[in-house]
Amino acid sequence: MKKILLAPSILSANFSNLEKEIIDVMSSGADLIHFDVMDNHYVPNLTFGSMVLKSLRKSNITSRIDVHLMARPLENLIHDFLKAGADSIFFHPECTDHIDKILNIIKEYGCQTGLVFNPATSLCCLEHVIDKVDNIVLMGVNPGFGGQSFIDSTLGKIRKVRSIIENSKLKILLHIDGGVNLKNIADISRAGSDVFIVGSVVFESKNYFSILKKLREQANN
Ligand code: DX5
Ligand code: ZN
Repeated sequence: MKKILLAPSILSANFSNLEKEIIDVMSSGADLIHFDVMDNHYVPNLTFGSMVLKSLRKSNITSRIDVHLMARPLENLIHDFLKAGADSIFFHPECTDHIDKILNIIKEYGCQTGLVFNPATSLCCLEHVIDKVDNIVLMGVNPGFGGQSFIDSTLGKIRKVRSIIENSKLKILLHIDGGVNLKNIADISRAGSDVFIVGSVVFESKNYFSILKKLREQANN
């Protein structure tokens, strides 16, 4: 059975108690944390910076934290998040003219890399840098907000990326980000996703343990 990874996105968490929310979801069965950075420029919303990540690390949050950078320009932010304790930094190729250079900077720091593709963004840049990519993230929604509905055409794109990964023979994790819920997670899993980024479906539920257990069961269906 393939390994299912559930990654709660803290965008939908209670920000006034972020440390406790992370401890609660991780002790309820989550595998890693998805940290949505929004700059109100590349996407029409504003969230948190590297200082928040730094203070979470200071309060002994040791879980894997994937930083999803929805920011442009991003060059100056990369170093801040590397130093703040990101385990992975995922960015949108549209946000820089220097995809290869940014991937090298992240890799040389010993951090995992990731490219994020919006629903209508082509996968073509993968051809030139796939050997430097540890994670591929497909957006199931247009970036900027939690609680949106999953765009069904993403399923075809997941299958396409799954075959690109298989043919590359590289160890790359395929994440789906946005709109994942109990109804569609089985289809998304069958299409080929490894990591399920789950925001509102988790943080809007009263019982993190039970919703994460149900999501995992459905994804393994
Ligand atoms: C959207 C973010 C997603 C979002 C997922 O721009 O990148 O990570 O928070 O939230 P849900 O699961 O509620 O769609
Ligand atoms: Zn995200």
